[in-house]
Amino acid sequence: MNELTPELAELVAAARAVRERAYAPYSSFGVGAALRTDAGELFTGCNVENASYGATICAERSAVLGMVANAKRPAAAAAKWRPRVSAIAVFTDAPSLAMPCGMCRQVLAEFERNALVIVSNPRGERVLPFAELFPEPFVLDSEGAER
Ligand code: THU
Repeated sequence: MNELTPELAELVAAARAVRERAYAPYSSFGVGAALRTDAGELFTGCNVENASYGATICAERSAVLGMVANAKRPAAAAAKWRPRVSAIAVFTDAPSLAMPCGMCRQVLAEFERNALVIVSNPRGERVLPFAELFPEPFVLDSEGAER
């Protein structure tokens, strides 16, 4: 496996650290995610499970929610402004590298389709372009969202 750049290694370390905060009493499968925006900000998230199971939120979406709520916005930003994800690292302790689920891929596609994805566990990582993971997302560009 190739060496990660320091920036990507920092994302993996952040994903690994936030995984310790996962709330996963039902599956015992903790997941951490850390993303970098094109503005250089870093946001993290972990999975938060729910007794209903269906209301469980994955680590990747949790990181996206944190980004939207906290990313620095231009002064005049309106509701259509969107931050962009340049890279996201996902960390699990699974024996094989766990890929982001389909729902998280669709949510990530909203915030950039040229990001890098780093899936990692204590034994290694794999880096792949988001577009390879999710080549044809559902989008509503015709609605005039600012990209
Ligand atoms: N999970 C994530 O956090 N990210 C994914 O992409 C897939 C699954 C979580 C949800 C649940 O808490 C646990 O992993 C087992 O499915």
